[in-house]
Amino acid sequence: MQKIFLKLGAISGVIFLFAISNCKNDTKLETAELDKPYKITVPPGFPQPYLSEKNPMTEKGVILGRMLYNDPILSTNGKSCSSCHLSQNSFSKPMQHFNNGYNISVMPHVNLAFKKVYNWEGSVPDLDLLPMGDFVPEIFNTDEKQLFQNLSKHPIYPGFFKAAFGINDINALSFMELKTKICYALVQYLRTMISANSKFDRFVARTEELSPIEEMGRKIFFTEKGDCFHCHGGPLFTDNDFHNNGVDSVFTGFNLGYNLVTQKPSDIGKFHSPTLRNIELTAPYMHDGRFTTLEDVVEFYNSGVHNTNTLDAIMFKRKNVNALNLTDIEKVALVQFLKTLTDTTFHNM
Ligand code: HEC
Ligand code: HEC
Repeated sequence: MQKIFLKLGAISGVIFLFAISNCKNDTKLETAELDKPYKITVPPGFPQPYLSEKNPMTEKGVILGRMLYNDPILSTNGKSCSSCHLSQNSFSKPMQHFNNGYNISVMPHVNLAFKKVYNWEGSVPDLDLLPMGDFVPEIFNTDEKQLFQNLSKHPIYPGFFKAAFGINDINALSFMELKTKICYALVQYLRTMISANSKFDRFVARTEELSPIEEMGRKIFFTEKGDCFHCHGGPLFTDNDFHNNGVDSVFTGFNLGYNLVTQKPSDIGKFHSPTLRNIELTAPYMHDGRFTTLEDVVEFYNSGVHNTNTLDAIMFKRKNVNALNLTDIEKVALVQFLKTLTDTTFHNM
């Protein structure tokens, strides 16, 4: 928080007013000139980020998003985004139990600017509006009147809404418009959360060596021996696609995965390949947190893959569908390699 308040001192007092409306139905709404555009620094080797035309990033928009992310002001129950997305866990938390009976491992916020569909089962295609789902009774239980009051009377927020979105008067917005702008600010901040400073990145940049056991793990990961790279390869450690990696043999409820979105039988049991960056910090593992440790995950890929109709073809390239036949030392090596993907500077985002 300290950092934010330091940055606050720099808010420019010069904001030009335009007596025009950015909302067709509301003539009361005046808009102000926006703050400087925020430019994402793309790490070497990364693809270009997916940015949004309807939500251009500004420097103040990003700061506003960071403040709102950590502030229970959006809820009536003391919760904020950071109650479930904890910085020390790569902005995730072990598990969330939902009223519909789903137990879901909270997803981390890592390199979201480079992702195209969101949530384990790919249920959200538009990141800019994803946080809209958090205002509901089960999560924030947001109260419309209280939200307008708290934000518009706040000593800091009105100035930031002006600089980030040109909004002169928060109270001139409809509830839906206010929630949309809040989502936009949150997502501007999410797009800046880039992790690219792990030991592995320094190894790629040739500024640090891997230990012999980490190097052994790297070779298993990136060759047909472990065959992890097909789904978790590239600088993002995800292929940004959906696969059934064989965790289940029977599919009900949330375990149906991508099929819940597409209704196609061929998508049963498929999930978005999660990034493995900072994986050491986000136990338990898989969409339902069924594995407690990385050792359990590696043992699953080594000997526990279930062969069902939708199991990914990559799994069949092995001699024995569910057996990698790794030795004990190779399993240790694979885990040690996964730990080289931890970025210890990321929690400062
Ligand atoms: C009560 C816990 C909880 C709170 C509070 C919460 N989230 Fe989440 N978040 C989750 C869970 C669980 C998932 C995974 C949902 C799924 O896969 O269906 C998730 C997923 C996400 C994703 C998708 C990540 C990806 O890689 O696809 C984003 C983005 C996100 N949350 C942003 C936010 C923001 C912004 C807030 C605050 C407005 C917030 N969350 C508040 C539990 C929470
Ligand atoms: C066919 C694609 C595919 C291959 C090959 C694959 N994975 Fe995965 N991996 C996935 C998918 C999809 C998930 C999420 C499944 C779920 O949540 O049920 C996943 C989940 C994981 C997780 C848990 C991530 C988290 O955030 O909880 C780890 C760790 C992991 N894989 C490591 C590996 C390793 C190590 C290998 C190689 C031995 C490997 N994967 C091979 C697709 C694959």
